[in-house]
Amino acid sequence: MRVDPPIPITTPVTQLLGITHPILLAPMDLVSDGRLVVAVDAAGGFGILGGGYGEEKWLVRELDVLDRAKARFGVGFITWSLAKQPRLLDIALERKPVAIMLSFGSPVSFIDRIKHAGAVVICQIQSVALAKEAAAAGADILVAQGAEAGGHGVTRGLVTLVPEIVDELEGRKPIVAAGGIADGRGLAAALMLGAAGVLMGTRFYASQESAGVQRAKERICSATGDDTLRSIVFDISRHNVWPAPFTGRCLRNAHADRWFGLEVELMRRLDQESAKYAAAREAGDFDIAAVIAGESVGLIHDIPSVRDVFEGVMDEASTLLSRWSSKLET
Ligand SMILES: Cc1cc2nc3c(=O)[nH]c(=O)nc-3n(C[C@H](O)[C@H](O)[C@H](O)COP(=O)(O)O)c2cc1C
Repeated sequence: MRVDPPIPITTPVTQLLGITHPILLAPMDLVSDGRLVVAVDAAGGFGILGGGYGEEKWLVRELDVLDRAKARFGVGFITWSLAKQPRLLDIALERKPVAIMLSFGSPVSFIDRIKHAGAVVICQIQSVALAKEAAAAGADILVAQGAEAGGHGVTRGLVTLVPEIVDELEGRKPIVAAGGIADGRGLAAALMLGAAGVLMGTRFYASQESAGVQRAKERICSATGDDTLRSIVFDISRHNVWPAPFTGRCLRNAHADRWFGLEVELMRRLDQESAKYAAAREAGDFDIAAVIAGESVGLIHDIPSVRDVFEGVMDEASTLLSRWSSKLET
């Protein structure tokens, strides 16, 4: 039984962000550029620009794209990196984003500035303790990120993390689920866990409008969830060591298999190995350079347009939700 048209799913997150569907684009460094954000906005979701480590020229250029498109948008930053160049937050706030998303590191010192500028504060967190800290500091929306996620994260699985945070905060803040969600089953399940929306990264990476390299997108389509690995190998190899407890999930490749578990040895040979790694990144050699992606790769087999991703996810979620509610009624 397919529900046509899909049932509208209205939640505190759709209301707070003024969007049609409870789906957010993750602020993926280098992948979530202005074009991808505009496509997500046009499809009825919420696009968040991947401000990443904070490259000013890139940020200004992509904010210009959003200005020209008159898109509604958010800007995401890696919080510990933003702390080294806080003026980037002013550059983003000048463009009147609907929201700023802060991930990885304490958001406390930035929240007042964001609220003062009239933007919604979204904090991505990986534990109950971090959720409580961000909520107490005034975050408006919390993104609970499970270990399944692509990119940096920690160790908690999503299925317990979301309801535990929902219970802990007693519904005071809307929770968005992130990590491993790529289809309507994931959206329906997240809503059942108490989330008010989902944030997807890897699914949008393998979309037509994303700034990812075509060969990386093709690797995502042919991988299974077993082919990803959470490690620090690629961060060591690109001289980008993160603070504890963060590790990064990427597709396994020859380089990760060679060095996983041998990180100390990799550090010893870093001059040689990092030069090899940098050359591989330049050449798009993904046997050495990492494709950053999450376990949801196993659910992704094509490279559709963003509009088709939305249609597929919303159709499937609303069909599942109404199928289950009609089962319960009979
Ligand atoms: C390629 C890639 C790059 C990412 N870069 C960032 C980033 O710069 N900042 C951030 O907050 N999260 C980043 N993330 C993590 C996402 O915010 C999100 O937690 C993750 O994509 C959710 O899991 P999923 O990939 O299974 O959808 C990245 C994820 C991917 C796949």
